[in-house]
Amino acid sequence: MLRIAVLISGGGTNLQAIIDACENQVLDAKVIGVISNKENAFGLERAKKHGIAHDYIGVKRYSDVAVRNEMLLNRLNDMHPDLIVLAGYLSILSPKIIKAYEGKIINIHPSLIPKHCGKGFYGIKVHESVIESKDVYSGATVHFVDAGVDTGTIILQEALKVSENETPASLQKRVLEIEHRILIQGIQKFCSYEL
Ligand code: GRF
Repeated sequence: MLRIAVLISGGGTNLQAIIDACENQVLDAKVIGVISNKENAFGLERAKKHGIAHDYIGVKRYSDVAVRNEMLLNRLNDMHPDLIVLAGYLSILSPKIIKAYEGKIINIHPSLIPKHCGKGFYGIKVHESVIESKDVYSGATVHFVDAGVDTGTIILQEALKVSENETPASLQKRVLEIEHRILIQGIQKFCSYEL
């Protein structure tokens, strides 16, 4: 059974999709821990509700970035994950963590990488950029995490057609539904070692 550690920063709807897929045996996996860099992330409540170990590792608790990174690495090591999923995680992992878990960290991004991604492209900003660019298509991407920002090898993408009267909010909602689906498909691919 695949041991998955999930890193979050917010509402945790992608985390919930993973939890549900595990509990419904869609994934032969178990979420063994959730770590947030935001103290009040609702995703921590989701973990608590499902009896999943959870922790806050962020600036308020560890103001020194080197200590914070070391604590995150130690916490991850304690969990012995086979896979780390960044599910709406808005902090950059240290090179030491990426090296320690090379090839075992995946991220979900709410655009068709390589468009509308990289530093500063997160949350609603991504969808505002798509609308401003008058793109005909948008969608979501599951990719491996490497030393860059949203630059790792792409595992899976799914596109949708941007509507005539689309707003950033309506696009975000539609893309989020794709995220929840392809994140599970991406983990399934990882599980089957198709990669
Ligand atoms: C999602 O759009 C995700 O792609 C982005 O953060 C948003 C919130 O995700 N990185 P979640 O509801 O916290 O999983």
